[in-house]
Amino acid sequence: MTMDWNFDEAVAHYRSQGAPHDQQALVELLREVQRESGGVIPAGALAQTAAALGCRESFLAAVIRRYPSLRTQQAPHRLELCGGQRCGARHAAQLASFIERTYAVKSGGVSARGGFSYRVTGCMKNCGAGPSLRWDGELVSRADERTVRQLVEGKQLSQPKTERPVQCGGAHQSESGENS
Ligand code: FES
Repeated sequence: MTMDWNFDEAVAHYRSQGAPHDQQALVELLREVQRESGGVIPAGALAQTAAALGCRESFLAAVIRRYPSLRTQQAPHRLELCGGQRCGARHAAQLASFIERTYAVKSGGVSARGGFSYRVTGCMKNCGAGPSLRWDGELVSRADERTVRQLVEGKQLSQPKTERPVQCGGAHQSESGENS
């Protein structure tokens, strides 16, 4: 954390704004902690923040999982897989099972291997080019096991799979994102 930023003062400020009960104030505090910690929230900082606010670390972790811009050291990346029907018809369920088996993770959790949080979402409005996923918020089309392995290992995708969203014809669940 930087010299001119003071953790106790930040906690006092956001407490006065309603944290931890006011989620917006809590998220702003977590963003500051993350920024001052170099871009991810270390486990120690998470514990320190929970203790200062008088709440559980698991509560803070649950809030962090809802906000793509917040990342813990344990899960510096975020994988979202489309669970919509049209991606389902393109074998997204098999891809989900590969992810869950290979990285020991369930939707809503953090992977035991690979360092990412994982969530199955509603339609990503990219049905014509599914299965769709988002890696750190970036849409990837026609995803398969190889794509996921490359993303987790930090490699460039062998073929560009990021495309402009293709609009779907039918009604689907809402896109995932912050502030929902
Ligand atoms: S169902 Fe997956 S992008 Fe629409």
